[in-house]
Amino acid sequence: MRRLHKNSGDPPKSSDLGGDDLSRDQQTRFGLNPLKLMGCFVVCLMGLSVLFSISIILKDSTPNSIWAVADARVLDMAPPGDLGQEDDQLDSIMNHNKKLHSSIFEHEDKLLGGLLSSRFDQDSCLSRYEASAYRKQSNYKPSSYLISRLRRYEELHKRCGPYTESYNKTVEKLRSNEKIEEASDCNYLIWVSFSGLGNRILTLGSAFLYALLTDRVLLVDRGVDMDDLFCEPFPEASWLLPLDFPITEHFKSLNQKSPECFGNIVSNNSSLSSSKLSSGYVYLHLVHDYDDNDKLFFCDQDQSFLENVPFLIMKSDNYFIPSLFLMPTFQQELLTLFPDQQTVFHFLGRYLFFPTNPIWGLITRYYKSYLQQADETIGIQVRVFDTRPGPFQYVLDQILSCSLHNDLLPEINPNESFTTSKAQNSKAVLLTSLSSGYFEKIRDMYWEHPTVTGEVIQVFQPSHEGYQQTGKKMHNRKAWAEMYLLSLTDKLITSSWSTFGYVAQSLGGLNPWILYKPENETTPNPACTRAMSIEPCFHAPPFFDCKKRSGIDTGEIVPHVRHCEDMSWGLKLVNPTAISVA
Ligand SMILES: *[C@@H]1O[C@H](CO)[C@@H](O)[C@H](O)[C@H]1NC(C)=O
Ligand SMILES: *[C@@H]1O[C@H](CO)[C@@H](O)[C@H](O)[C@H]1NC(C)=O
Ligand SMILES: *[C@@H]1O[C@H](CO)[C@@H](O)[C@H](O)[C@H]1NC(C)=O
Ligand SMILES: *[C@@H]1O[C@H](CO)[C@@H](O)[C@H](O)[C@H]1NC(C)=O
Ligand SMILES: *[C@@H]1O[C@H](CO)[C@@H](O)[C@H](O)[C@H]1NC(C)=O
Repeated sequence: MRRLHKNSGDPPKSSDLGGDDLSRDQQTRFGLNPLKLMGCFVVCLMGLSVLFSISIILKDSTPNSIWAVADARVLDMAPPGDLGQEDDQLDSIMNHNKKLHSSIFEHEDKLLGGLLSSRFDQDSCLSRYEASAYRKQSNYKPSSYLISRLRRYEELHKRCGPYTESYNKTVEKLRSNEKIEEASDCNYLIWVSFSGLGNRILTLGSAFLYALLTDRVLLVDRGVDMDDLFCEPFPEASWLLPLDFPITEHFKSLNQKSPECFGNIVSNNSSLSSSKLSSGYVYLHLVHDYDDNDKLFFCDQDQSFLENVPFLIMKSDNYFIPSLFLMPTFQQELLTLFPDQQTVFHFLGRYLFFPTNPIWGLITRYYKSYLQQADETIGIQVRVFDTRPGPFQYVLDQILSCSLHNDLLPEINPNESFTTSKAQNSKAVLLTSLSSGYFEKIRDMYWEHPTVTGEVIQVFQPSHEGYQQTGKKMHNRKAWAEMYLLSLTDKLITSSWSTFGYVAQSLGGLNPWILYKPENETTPNPACTRAMSIEPCFHAPPFFDCKKRSGIDTGEIVPHVRHCEDMSWGLKLVNPTAISVA
């Protein structure tokens, strides 16, 4: 059912329910470290980041009914045109539906150009087979090398996954606290469930790529709801860490002070070898508050010490892939995997993250009810960093200014004259926000006035939960459904700093318009900018030259790793030959 009318639009990113923002915010507080490795410009950046680090506990004391948006449906009706036109419209809707239903299981793009393994049971995860019917064909093609590496990874995962002989053997060594004497058959990367949902999706993708690069098997700590949200991505072997894994009870307490922490180990003795480790695992602290020792993770010479450690345990709330592209060890491999550097999370995300059947139901029912019939869909992801609940006029003005000036939405005609003779197109706006205020104002604006183009604008908001509730099951289900719905839109507007928006834009392959972060409760001018690429931003990158052991601007080293549009000290991957000009 991918919509016929769309050309390969590149929308802005959006989304906003996400539990991402807390950590995003915290990420900006870089740990200062006695090593004094950073250059002076880094200090300036830090000053900036501290300035921005207001805590963002969003609260809204009136959690209203989630489905209160139903009344927006009055706008669904197209204005009565002449009969012939109406029939055409009906026809096109019916054809559309027909196409939707017929194409589901025979879509040529079903396995995303070979990205997905064909060895799966369809019913266990409907989204894996149906998703392509809801999307435009991607503008991007996975490299054959990426495809072959994924198949190779799947073999490794099957051979070493939970309760295999190798797994049992390696876990037994950990349990009995045996010293690491020889390289073990299989090595593992355990991703610990940590932070909001948007962050979790980005860090899990980062962890998977790191596992792929280092021939480790990725195992996922299920936390509160990881198994509720995502289908198993690898055929014939689970990615969930078994519940009887020996040291799970320590996950919560692992931190920078832990003796197993990588930064701690390398700072105590940089020439340490893994055979001297006191335990069979190393903890990687890649959280926004990590210090310069932890950041040595991104240095080749320090990586080599990790090679023979059978279990790495990782906590992160950051999309750290851009910095892997700066490491000589991985550089060539990464460029071969991703010849178009801006597609990393696009492919990893589409490969790894499939909504489970209940969430797929939330997505498809909403899509069919509100988005399917529109000629064009616009996603608007609003995330406001203010301690008060809002809505705020300056944010509404910003959304409208961005939408109108970039021709994403039409102006209204204040003269109230009807424009039935003009275009009969309809646009559906999918707005996500913790507050319902923006949705109501924009919906009313297009209800109370005709547009200058005659287009019909429908405005929908799936949920408005008032505040971010990291860890609640239904909340996260809806947040994931909203990110996914945003990724299905034709054009996307996102908020700065929001990992929720990053997920939507990368999954959708959409180049968003990014709303600048308002300062001082004032609408920024311009209100938004076009993203350089569809990649997420790494909010807390290291600024360190591993060879010279000194500070460096890591946004200036290679043309495909640059500073982000929405965060001047962040790093993101771009395709330098294909940067879209706003
Ligand atoms: C691994 O250990 C589990 C019990 O902990 C056992 O059920 C399973 O059969 C073992 N796997 C193999 C291949 O022996
Ligand atoms: C490193 O040093 C710190 C403080 O001196 C100590 O607490 C920690 O246990 C040491 N870690 C290792 C792996 O020796
Ligand atoms: C560091 O470890 C090496 C061997 O791994 C050892 O020779 C050296 O004495 C250690 N240095 C310190 C300061 O502990
Ligand atoms: C509204 O109508 C008046 C009078 O007909 C006209 O001068 C004005 O330009 C119109 N405004 C717009 C925005 O069309
Ligand atoms: C914020 O706005 C207030 C009042 O409009 C002004 O006095 C203040 O200087 C502004 N601060 C900044 C940082 O622009």
